Amino acid sequence: AAGQDDYRTSYHFRPTKNWQNDPNGPMYYKGVYHLFYQYNPYVATWGNGNLSWGHSVSVDLINWSALENALDPDSPFDANGCWSGSATFLPDGTPVFLYTGIDASNNQVQNVAFPKNASDPLLREWVKPTYNPVIALPDDVVHDQFRDPSTAWIGHDGLWLVAVSAGFKDGTGSTLVYRSKDFRSWERNAEPLYKSGSAGMVECPDLFPVAEPGSENGLDYAPSNGKESWHVLKQSVMVTLSDYYVLGRYDDAEDTFTPAEESGNDCRNWHRFDYGHVYASKSFYDASKKRRVLWSWANESDPEPVYIARGWAGVQTVPRKIWLASDGKQLLQWPIEEIESLRKTRVGLLGAEVNAGGMNEIIGVPGMQADVEVVFEIPALDGAENLDTNQLLDPQRLCGEKGASVPGGVGPFGLLVLASSDLQEHTSIFFRVFRHDGKYKVLMCTDLRRSTKRADVYKPPYGGFVDIDIEKERRISLRTLVSFFLSHSHTMQQIRMTSFVHATD
Ligand code: FRU
Repeated sequence: AAGQDDYRTSYHFRPTKNWQNDPNGPMYYKGVYHLFYQYNPYVATWGNGNLSWGHSVSVDLINWSALENALDPDSPFDANGCWSGSATFLPDGTPVFLYTGIDASNNQVQNVAFPKNASDPLLREWVKPTYNPVIALPDDVVHDQFRDPSTAWIGHDGLWLVAVSAGFKDGTGSTLVYRSKDFRSWERNAEPLYKSGSAGMVECPDLFPVAEPGSENGLDYAPSNGKESWHVLKQSVMVTLSDYYVLGRYDDAEDTFTPAEESGNDCRNWHRFDYGHVYASKSFYDASKKRRVLWSWANESDPEPVYIARGWAGVQTVPRKIWLASDGKQLLQWPIEEIESLRKTRVGLLGAEVNAGGMNEIIGVPGMQADVEVVFEIPALDGAENLDTNQLLDPQRLCGEKGASVPGGVGPFGLLVLASSDLQEHTSIFFRVFRHDGKYKVLMCTDLRRSTKRADVYKPPYGGFVDIDIEKERRISLRTLVSFFLSHSHTMQQIRMTSFVHATD
């Protein structure tokens, strides 16, 4: 019989009903993973702005149990919403939240909350001290542009430091740094960690250290003691609804972050974790597996009336492990290994040849989800199309202009996922090899334009260039997680999909 299960998203976390957005305060504590998230307990829209922190726990990052909300907007300093924030472990191991409250006058302020009983591994109840807010709205910051405290870290002087997003009244977007000796009274540093006039307000800053190039270990925050260490700064940019990160040197004596690359201070030129419809990511250090894990919110692709009727909105992406590539130039990522425990029936195709226009069907994929691994071998690169500089700068547009059915020199080759038998509906994930400036460039696209015949769905083509030495490797190894679910009416379907390319690292 059709039960709730038919509607459950399989790889992606979501509460059973209503609205969720940003992941908040992820952590591993006493053997339990915690995920908090921006949650509207009443309807499937962000709507009334009275957000709570939903709370779920898991021992494997795969199977989740919902608990009571951790924070609800019930105090003068958060009367109009408990917005995004992060968890930090105090030296005695107790976690503490710093989060944004929308106060009774609709100003954004930063608050703290502590577990009522830190010996409870489930951290069911959280207490907000009445001395909140701990950071009031500064005079030079717009009243509704001061939010999203990061995880705090201890600097070389032994003081706590935290990064907070702030939009200045003069229009510049910035990330401010505050210091404290007791987590209660905070003082603002003169210099912001990040400042830019061009990208507008940036939100949800994440600043974290990474181990030496090629090491897959994650690092927790630690004072650098004057030693240079690699850090990542991530910003969520409102105008593009996308996340961008850059590698750099964080100096905890000066509290300056210097990007390693000449990318200007417009963070829209930085790297991406993801080219899809995801936002407001937040990472945490998982001490049990010595790795850094990234969560992100995947926004709705359906229009509001559709998800209101369906009764829930938004999912979290599959948690990913992230680390620094061996060339030190970018982060690598992979779905956490626990995902593989969901593999059951194996179906496949070995040694298939695909010629121009050809297709091979993989039949017998059971159920509503699939973990697809495919290796493409490319026998020859002659004939790769030439790419001009404009095309190189706008891969997204190139994916749109040269869809999977547009013939090319080398490629397109890839997967058609969830294809109807007449191919009227399908989602393509495909590659094309181009030549530019004497080198080969590999474009990877995901094209949702034909994923459904419905017109009211957000279904763009998107993609980017993949850093592969295709001349040397001659193969591309792709992993795609596909999950598929029906809406309650059984008339509409939704697809969630994430693709990763194996690095040649
Ligand atoms: C990002 C964001 C945050 C804010 C939260 C409110 O998606 O706008 O800046 O704290 O969502 O739900």
